[in-house]
Amino acid sequence: MAKLWGGRFSKATDTQVDDFNSSIRFDARMYAQDIAGSCAHAKMLGKQGIIPQEDADLIVKTLKEILADIEENKVEFSIDAEDIHMNIETILISRIGDVGKRLHTGRSRNDQVALDIRMYLRHEIDSLLEEVKALRKTILAIAKEHLATIMPGYTHLQKAQPITLAHHVMAYYEMLRRDGERLTDCRKRLNIMPLGSGALAGTTYPLDREFVAAELGFDGVTQNSLDGVSDRDFVCELAFCLSLIMTHLSRFSEEIILWSSHEFSFIELDDAYSTGSSIMPQKKNPDVAELVRGKTGRVYGSLTGLLTMLKGLPLAYNKDMQEDKEQIFDAIDTVKMCLPVFTNMLATMQVRKDKMLHGAKGGFTNATDVADYLVKHGLPFRDAHGVVGRMVAYCIEKDTVIDALSMEEMQSFSPLIQEDIYDAISLTTCVNERKLIGGPAMETMKAVISRYEKEED
Ligand code: ARG
Repeated sequence: MAKLWGGRFSKATDTQVDDFNSSIRFDARMYAQDIAGSCAHAKMLGKQGIIPQEDADLIVKTLKEILADIEENKVEFSIDAEDIHMNIETILISRIGDVGKRLHTGRSRNDQVALDIRMYLRHEIDSLLEEVKALRKTILAIAKEHLATIMPGYTHLQKAQPITLAHHVMAYYEMLRRDGERLTDCRKRLNIMPLGSGALAGTTYPLDREFVAAELGFDGVTQNSLDGVSDRDFVCELAFCLSLIMTHLSRFSEEIILWSSHEFSFIELDDAYSTGSSIMPQKKNPDVAELVRGKTGRVYGSLTGLLTMLKGLPLAYNKDMQEDKEQIFDAIDTVKMCLPVFTNMLATMQVRKDKMLHGAKGGFTNATDVADYLVKHGLPFRDAHGVVGRMVAYCIEKDTVIDALSMEEMQSFSPLIQEDIYDAISLTTCVNERKLIGGPAMETMKAVISRYEKEED
């Protein structure tokens, strides 16, 4: 097939080069954006008198027919036409001949692809925001149910202080809330219209760029044509947003994996969200969480690939930039696959409250509260720390816990200790007295949850 750019060539492209060069097998997914962009461009060309109005009308009408045909699977793209932009233009010309040849006036594929990718990513960000929100809502529901479910909180994966499951899962809510904000922010920065940048230096035609921007729902137009065609910051930025979402899902997955182990037994995953072993009949494996954790590396790979692809490129457009698409598409597809399955895995898991409580009772998770008790009775904190340290050593020796010591044993460590110590260091007190902003106390978490519930509506 003759190339749209074939004029100065005396030989056909080698088929190997056609294969190598063409991007249609992965950029075909931008067909709707490409057509919308071309319709807006054609309309503007007509309005500005750059092409006859009736030609603009016919182009728009035919592009819409092509869109419908693509959606009904009636169109076959060809690698000869290289990419989605030239495939659609070729089909247009095959349908309306010379009129179709006027569409590309004042436009280059360089600004065309910059436009399409922005519109495509914008559309994907909107659906990602929905998926992240669905996960946040599931977390809110779990938190609401487990305001009083006491569990051990950890540092260094060593038991530290008692918290609640609500408090624990709401930490992930905070991360995912920031993820939503980051995606929204990224969308703002990418929603600037590059058409009119031409190949690199703009064009002499009196294009109405603002009109095209308004037609296509952009917030403004790019201010430098070199940057307009060579900027892929927004692709990297989105890849970073996606990488951080995966970091959060991966950390959560790691906890799900630990919690579902026999050693922890804090949760039991639903049968529908776990898998078995081909040899060991007893096994129930947390494959979903493991795969989410595993796929995180793949999304980081896209971010690294994108940054590396860009770092040595001179201005303006270079063909290297065609490599942006597979990377960002794969990252988007991966995150869009992980989010809903992760959400459903969480929504269906069973929580073993008894095991969580049991876990919180061991490991001296109330030791800080014993020290705080002494401080409230006048001892400086460093001295209190020392006293409780000795109590813990004594308990380890006797294989017991601080709460189980008799009053006599307690007072042998400090005469400040009175009967009210038992209540002061109970796990429920430890949790519910931490009612400052950000703490695990039931009343604090309740307020946070109801505030976020309103925000999600
Ligand atoms: N398929 C190309 C890409 O994805 C479109 C732009 C090509 N421009 C060019 N002058 N070869 O980047």
